[in-house]
Amino acid sequence: MMILNYRATFTLFILLFLGINTSVFSQTYARNGMVVSDSEIASQVGVDILKKGGNAIDAAAATAFALQVTHPTAGNIGGGGFIVFMKSDGNVTTFDFREKAPLAASPDMYLDENGEVIGNINHLSSKAIGVPGTVAGLYKAQQKYGKLDWKEIVQPAIDLAKDGFEFNWSLYFSGRYFSAQETFPFMKNYFLNASGELIQPGETWKQPELATTLTYIRENGRDGFYKGPVADGIVEFMKENEGIVTHEDLLKYEAIERNPMHGTYKGYDVYSMPPPSSGGVAMIEMLNMVELADAETIPFNSTNYVHLVAEAMRRAYADRAEHMGDIDFNPDLPLDHLISKEHAQNLFNSIDWQKASVSDSSKFSQLYDGESTTHLSVLDKDGNAVSLTYTLEFGYGSRMGSEKLGFIFNNEMGDFNPQPGVTKRNGQIGSDPNQIAPEKRMLSSMTPTIVAKDGKPYLVIGSPGGRTIINTVFQTVLAVLEYNMRIDRAISALKIHHQWLPDRILYEENTLSPDTRIALEAMGHTLVPVSNLGVLMGITYDPEQQLMTGAADASSGEGAAVGY
Ligand code: DON
Repeated sequence: MMILNYRATFTLFILLFLGINTSVFSQTYARNGMVVSDSEIASQVGVDILKKGGNAIDAAAATAFALQVTHPTAGNIGGGGFIVFMKSDGNVTTFDFREKAPLAASPDMYLDENGEVIGNINHLSSKAIGVPGTVAGLYKAQQKYGKLDWKEIVQPAIDLAKDGFEFNWSLYFSGRYFSAQETFPFMKNYFLNASGELIQPGETWKQPELATTLTYIRENGRDGFYKGPVADGIVEFMKENEGIVTHEDLLKYEAIERNPMHGTYKGYDVYSMPPPSSGGVAMIEMLNMVELADAETIPFNSTNYVHLVAEAMRRAYADRAEHMGDIDFNPDLPLDHLISKEHAQNLFNSIDWQKASVSDSSKFSQLYDGESTTHLSVLDKDGNAVSLTYTLEFGYGSRMGSEKLGFIFNNEMGDFNPQPGVTKRNGQIGSDPNQIAPEKRMLSSMTPTIVAKDGKPYLVIGSPGGRTIINTVFQTVLAVLEYNMRIDRAISALKIHHQWLPDRILYEENTLSPDTRIALEAMGHTLVPVSNLGVLMGITYDPEQQLMTGAADASSGEGAAVGY
């Protein structure tokens, strides 16, 4: 959804007055602070926190809680994610609140007596639920770096759940789907009013059970979720539904502050998530490869551009499949090697400019996974920046939740490799680093990113999209840094996706010229159109004009950049 605040209106007026034919309609401008998220209501919650004197961490945490209420397909307290935080002094840190495998998990927990995965139980069953990390992560980050009282951070979400907000069309379409079928009993009732009817767009949607759950979190912080009535409710749900998360799992869950992955691109500093996300490593590898090309010969959207970007993706995703997993269980991951300029040079040298490489299908392959994650970007008046991506994995996660608690559980266990040693052409990976083990974090592709120039935030960006995330963030970074696109254009510009195997390029239909597609096919590439890649939420900062510019991807139903 487009937001046109008074600054944008003023700018538009000036541009029109000067006769400059520049559209500013899909960007928001601000000087004091900005929040971009998948829900305009949640973005406004974040901006209100900034206006109260909160910093970017406060605003990000409050926005994340609000998204649980207004954007429950992905906004969550029942899932997990990552924060990249750049402080105004230029230092960057990250928070890992990825879900963990429960203590009762094992490498073969999804297999039958023949060693085959039973149905889809690693994705859609109570056994797919990982130990949630979101509340621990938001609490840890806010307590260490936030300025406001914790209660002020959670309160807006409580108000939204208790008093309700206007039911929108995105929620309505979800409600129509879930209320019509029996498979997910919790979801069947989730969008119904007290008379058992589906709420209509424009009506007020209240979530009183969720409000109560959030009140425990407001009062007791982390312990309000991992101990006491909410923890009891979670464990009761697990016992009733053959889930395996226990009190001990909840008590033992810790969010972890980690050093960021750091790379450079032509003088810019690029900060993103380290493992257990593969995002930072793979994106930096790709940027390092593209940096070696002669940009003059690679116009955006040209055949050379798509070829180079796809070949960089193929190589980085091959490394990802082979090496990536939870660093705490794989202490020897070759991270420094993978993000080194030397490694990029070797990979770059192997690109044939006349024809597509062939992915070695004897190794690993990967599937497009999931459809519900959400990203938010925040910049405050002091130059603190937050890039936060969190997820339930599928849209509405496991589609299971506790009626008493009012929230949905993730199905993140599906991000582990389900069959040790078994790699299939359909996309299943069997490599060691991402096999299931008790208390291990499953590998992620989430890529919350901050690009800095001269120690100050220059671009704050991230996206949902399963394994496409790394690629859509990478291409948006490239569009801003290399092709000087303004943020809304960079977000809406052509995106492609190659993940080594299956050996094909997905591209957003109608954004790639047919001539380019034919030229790429002649080089040996296989191209497959898809309706959309990425739901990017970005902010750029121009230090000379002291201007923040933000945009939410047009493919986000209710998203918005809100500034002040
Ligand atoms: O952590 C991951 O990489 C996945 N669970 C993310 C899933 C996702 O982005 C689905 N959303 N569109």
